[in-house]
Amino acid sequence: MKLPKTYGFLKKDLDIIEEALHRAIQADHEVLNEAVTALLNAGGKRIRPVFVVLAGQLGDFNAEKVKKVAVSLELIHMATLVHDDVIDEAELRRGKPTVKTKYGNRVAMYTGDYILARALEEITSIEDKAVHRILSKTLVEVSIGEIEQIRDKYNWNQSLKDYLRRIKRKTALLIATSCKLGAVVSGMSERDSNKLYQYGYNIGMSYQIIDDILDFTSNEKVLGKPAGNDLLQGNITLPILYAMENADFKKSLQDRFQSPELITKAEMKQFIQHLEHTDAINRSYQLSNQYLAKALKTLEGIPNHRAKRTLEDIAKFIGKRRS
Ligand code: IPE
Ligand code: IPE
Ligand code: MG
Ligand code: MG
Ligand code: MG
Repeated sequence: MKLPKTYGFLKKDLDIIEEALHRAIQADHEVLNEAVTALLNAGGKRIRPVFVVLAGQLGDFNAEKVKKVAVSLELIHMATLVHDDVIDEAELRRGKPTVKTKYGNRVAMYTGDYILARALEEITSIEDKAVHRILSKTLVEVSIGEIEQIRDKYNWNQSLKDYLRRIKRKTALLIATSCKLGAVVSGMSERDSNKLYQYGYNIGMSYQIIDDILDFTSNEKVLGKPAGNDLLQGNITLPILYAMENADFKKSLQDRFQSPELITKAEMKQFIQHLEHTDAINRSYQLSNQYLAKALKTLEGIPNHRAKRTLEDIAKFIGKRRS
């Protein structure tokens, strides 16, 4: 995903954050160092730092604190990715072999924990209990979200509400928190930082819905991570939930997934092709658009500012993202 042109004015701050990220993850241990540096160098969109900086610019910009929050949020995100690739048995991340693939699940567990610990070091160097509290609460929710996803695997009878609650926890709250903490450390009022939290929440919901759509419609080359893996792993996402409103399709999935390990690539392709012939993908985009519209609405009360216009652009842009 390439962000809009207006994003250019953030470059200086993002370069400083990038450098700080590299410094923050230095490890004296060879394997840890290799694993975390490879993941960092592999790229990634750095969307959470972008939100921290933009929210910060809407207030009385505190460069040092904004940098620490941004580094911390990106590291937390990276830690969850390392753990997520263990759970999802994913071979590729950001176009490169995952930590799990290169070093195995046990090393990946501790690499994730190590990155998380570095994130905490960074955030606790800001002496503000409110900041620590907001972040800890979010981390609790992210963990519950991922655990709920494991519990709900292959549960064909879960509801839209179950799905939405899960993606709120596993994705939307971290983006909401990025916006909120950027605002809080830049002295914005509670009212405005809560507005930014709401903006981030709605953006985050759309972000994960589109991630879930792309898992069906895109490919590994574009995404830099495996496509088609969600259903195979039993992760029931929005397009599947919509498609299962057709009882025959639901039954065929249930029957075939009695023994998921026996499902062939050709059969998976058939399921995906069927999905593409229904309105499931379109309806998923519609729901994503509803969240984006809400995100734009929550910005209405914030005074006009270049950073606000960029937040609006990003909301419009995310709806069309392809990677
Ligand atoms: C991937 O996040 C996981 C989700 C929450 C959808 P990103 O799409 O932000 O991943 P990177 O950081 O750009 O690799
Ligand atoms: C988001 O879910 C992962 C986290 C919030 C940790 P996914 O499992 O869909 O993320 P990708 O597709 O592997 O990036
Ligand atoms: Mg996952
Ligand atoms: Mg995954
Ligand atoms: Mg995904």
